Amino acid sequence: MKAVQRVLDSHAKLSLLTGPTPLEPLDRLSDCLGGPQLWVKRDDCTGLAFGGNKVRKLEYLLGDALARDADLLITNGALQSNHARLTAAAAVKAGMACDLLLAPCDAGRFAIERKSGNALLDRLLGANLHVKASDQNLGQGMRDIAAQRRREGFSPYIINAGGSSAIGSLGYVACALEIAAQAHTLGVHFDYVLHAAGSCGTQAGLVTGFQLLGLDTAVLGVAVSPDGEQTFRHERVAELRRELLALFDLSPCQKALSVLLTGDYSGPCYGEADAATFDAISLFAQTESIILDPVYSGKAAAAAIGLSRKGRFSSDANVLFLHTGGTPALFARYAAAGSNAGKCKGLAMKTRKDNAARP
Ligand SMILES: Cc1ncc(COP(=O)(O)O)c(C=O)c1O
Repeated sequence: MKAVQRVLDSHAKLSLLTGPTPLEPLDRLSDCLGGPQLWVKRDDCTGLAFGGNKVRKLEYLLGDALARDADLLITNGALQSNHARLTAAAAVKAGMACDLLLAPCDAGRFAIERKSGNALLDRLLGANLHVKASDQNLGQGMRDIAAQRRREGFSPYIINAGGSSAIGSLGYVACALEIAAQAHTLGVHFDYVLHAAGSCGTQAGLVTGFQLLGLDTAVLGVAVSPDGEQTFRHERVAELRRELLALFDLSPCQKALSVLLTGDYSGPCYGEADAATFDAISLFAQTESIILDPVYSGKAAAAAIGLSRKGRFSSDANVLFLHTGGTPALFARYAAAGSNAGKCKGLAMKTRKDNAARP
């Protein structure tokens, strides 16, 4: 573990996290499902502007940007992008300017979304917003903004969508170390870590981190967009993993842990949730007071619940649900979902009153 930490420490980093995020058992939810033992890693509590997984990536990306004397961050994403919101927040912390190139993922809800959730926070955080009608050519769009800003005297630093470069993914190698240390303290071995997968830096970082530590914890990515995109995700995780191993001076042919991805819980498309996701959001809220969102963490939760119910995990397995954040999207999306936010169907949770009534 020390050798991995030494390489991490050799990379520039801007400290943005408030400390290790909590790792806790989900006893009431596990009880309700009848096993396995579920746990949660609270990366929704990373501390910066409503938190989320992107904070860990931005620590290393901002370290790199500052080492290059950049004074302006540019990134892109959906109008409801958590990554864009947290890039804007990180820019504020670093005293940098920020340009966000955004595109709606659903033209029909454009009017609601541009005033709520992450889009509202982007403006509050003082970012310059460039909103496009479609998500075509956003890469070129960022280069055009950078060229314009250079003419104005700025020194821009472009961050890929989702912050999923090798440098950004170092944040999740560091998270794998944090999980391993917490597991050691708790005396638990995690068989699986399960999380929402988008641009794949989170999964690549975790897989590489566990591999570097010699742990056999399997990392299951729950795709947030449908099946057709899983080949791309497998390739992207493999590519990022190769680049990460090179940062640790290891050969890419080191035996890889298998990369597990499921597209079965993605709902109809990116940004759209189905009934399983809304049910999962209600179940987490009403068993554990954990608040999820319909774009990312709710889909991963639907997978954790669905796979548990199907008996995909053995009943004595320890399954860690990585809560990657995204809660601002709840407020933008539930308005449209309306009556989907409600009591869990068929939920018969025992309360303290039921327990007290027992002989
Ligand atoms: C809340 C949330 N969870 C999960 C993810 C997916 O992470 P990654 O892009 O590293 O796959 C994102 C990405 O935007 C996110 O915002």
